[in-house]
Amino acid sequence: MQPIRILFSSISGNTRSFVKKLTDYAHEEHIINSAAPLIEGFEISDLTNFTDETDPFFVCVPTYLSGGNGIDNGVKELMTNTLGEYITYHNNAQLVQGIIGSGNRNFNEQYILTARRYAHATKTAVVADYELRGTNQDVERIYNILITLTK
Ligand SMILES: Cc1cc2nc3c(=O)[nH]c(=O)nc-3n(C[C@H](O)[C@H](O)[C@H](O)COP(=O)(O)O)c2cc1C
Repeated sequence: MQPIRILFSSISGNTRSFVKKLTDYAHEEHIINSAAPLIEGFEISDLTNFTDETDPFFVCVPTYLSGGNGIDNGVKELMTNTLGEYITYHNNAQLVQGIIGSGNRNFNEQYILTARRYAHATKTAVVADYELRGTNQDVERIYNILITLTK
């Protein structure tokens, strides 16, 4: 089975840490059972050269917003814009398998709002969410979701 690919951005390191835990967990599962798919993470930052993706991928995006009423009025994406531009670059959106949102529930209605906006922009769905760095249970839960969606 091909590795499951995840494109992500991380400003303060939480998403990077989560994707690392996910790839490590997948590696352990793969050692126990070679049919369990590996995970590859690819960080998208302001330094990334935009390219035409050729293989399907999931997107893992944290939430940084300013302004608005928390739903649809005037809210502005900050920090993660390059990832949003990358996944809608040329035909890349056609290869998006789903969006994983991360954030902090203290933001109430704005919780994982960037992920929900990306799902809308790529005509896909938010397939999973977690807070901050994610727990070990989040890692296991989300790995199983990704496996199910790529079967
Ligand atoms: C300035 C700022 C704004 C944020 N806005 C939101 C928000 O609107 N909704 C949300 O769910 N989380 C919000 N968060 C929480 C981040 O999405 C969360 O800390 C995430 O884990 C950061 O990921 P990173 O460390 O990979 O950059 C915000 C955090 C900061 C620092």
